Amino acid sequence: MRAPALPVPLGLTHVFGGLYAAAYGLGGQQLVAGVVRRMGPVVGLPVLGYGPVVAVGDPALAKQVFSAKPDVLLGGEGVGPAAAIYGSRSMFVQEEPEHLRRRKLLIPPLHGGVLDSYVPIIEAATRAAMARWPQGRPIRMVDAARELTLEVIVRVMFGVDDPADVGRLGAPFEELLSLALSDETPVRYAARRLGGLRMWGRLAAVNRRIDDTVLPLIAARRADPSRPAGILGMLVDVRGEDGEGLSDRQIRDDLVTLILAGHETTATTLAWMVDLLLHHPEALQGVTAEAGAIGAAEVGDGGTRYTEAVINETLRLWPPAPITGRMTAGRYRLGDYTLEPGTRIVLLLDVINRDPGSYPDPDDFRPERFLGQRPPASAWVPFGGGLKRCIGAAFAMCELTTVLHTLLREGRLEPVDSRPERPRGRAGPVLVPRNGTRVYFSRADACSASPRR
Ligand code: HEM
Repeated sequence: MRAPALPVPLGLTHVFGGLYAAAYGLGGQQLVAGVVRRMGPVVGLPVLGYGPVVAVGDPALAKQVFSAKPDVLLGGEGVGPAAAIYGSRSMFVQEEPEHLRRRKLLIPPLHGGVLDSYVPIIEAATRAAMARWPQGRPIRMVDAARELTLEVIVRVMFGVDDPADVGRLGAPFEELLSLALSDETPVRYAARRLGGLRMWGRLAAVNRRIDDTVLPLIAARRADPSRPAGILGMLVDVRGEDGEGLSDRQIRDDLVTLILAGHETTATTLAWMVDLLLHHPEALQGVTAEAGAIGAAEVGDGGTRYTEAVINETLRLWPPAPITGRMTAGRYRLGDYTLEPGTRIVLLLDVINRDPGSYPDPDDFRPERFLGQRPPASAWVPFGGGLKRCIGAAFAMCELTTVLHTLLREGRLEPVDSRPERPRGRAGPVLVPRNGTRVYFSRADACSASPRR
């Protein structure tokens, strides 16, 4: 029996510029998500420069994709344009077995007890940010959170705390991130066989600045192993089971990966979460109670159940990285369809997270649905899944909890807009609130009771 032909929405055949440009430039993530909801669960999107692309919005099929063997569905090639910016030696773009070897080396600094040692750093960065925020006039939470999460990740990665060092070290990464998220990236990625990424002057220039910043720090740590150097130091010292460590260039590209993958995503989640809380007073009260009742050192001790449910529900509704992907190595059967080798499978995480079969009223914000129960494995995928599931998920949960509790303990927030945020229609590969989540902020020690003055 012949497999059915993939449904292909009219007007999306042969769009040049890549899936991201097609998805976001032509009306946003909502456009592709809407098409998949109408025609899905698997839709073909042939895109010049990318080969065949299929979008998937179904939990069962996503589970099949996430659990496929890495020689059947390729992870490094599959994750797409933004990851290509991270550097050719980044673990993110490696295939197996190298990807797994490198992933294991990154786990110790991002999991378990070491996370507790980051809590005071995150608290200090949050306090420093609050001291800078203006009171009595609106601030855009998206921008404020981006600055804060960059500061956190730079302090943790390099083990620095002097604000001048933090600013100097963070600047080139901020610039690289804005290139990774720019409209130019998917177009240049599509044209990369013609040297699209290699011949990009701005990318080369910022990469040189990152080399000049990071390589001397790696050399200094190799010369003096007692020199404090945060996660960079751990990556210099780490050895795999085979006794092999990481080369300077591998450390450099993995640091870029951790900083870029872990900074905008967490910031955007924080902005969505603040917006949802400010428009759901009971939920805000629940988190504030937990924030007031516990000290930050107790994060993870069981006193954060409601906060965790709020974070899980925020990530379900507005996963900041709404797509991830894999690429078929050979012919591959997905549901009713047979995909050709070299097909990109794009998983629409935001569609999967709102699966009506898995959640009653999937579009409503209801943290209670996660109280006392873990999110369903196949229909809660803001961190992706399988061998490439986000390696920073525990770090992100720790950072989001600590920042939110510090903000609610030591500051006060009020919404500027009476209606909750919607996503920006035309955005980069990150799902961002349209108005940037505008809030009034005041420090708890300020004389006035209200943030609006
Ligand atoms: C709320 C915050 C975050 C979200 C929603 C998020 C989401 C994601 C997603 C969707 C993927 C792709 C997974 C897949 O393809 O199956 C990913 C991968 C990754 N993330 Fe995150 N992420 C977040 C925070 C972080 C943080 C804080 C770090 C590091 C400090 C980080 C580092 C990484 C890395 C290194 C990968 C690649 C993993 C691999 O290839 O094995 N992320 N993340």
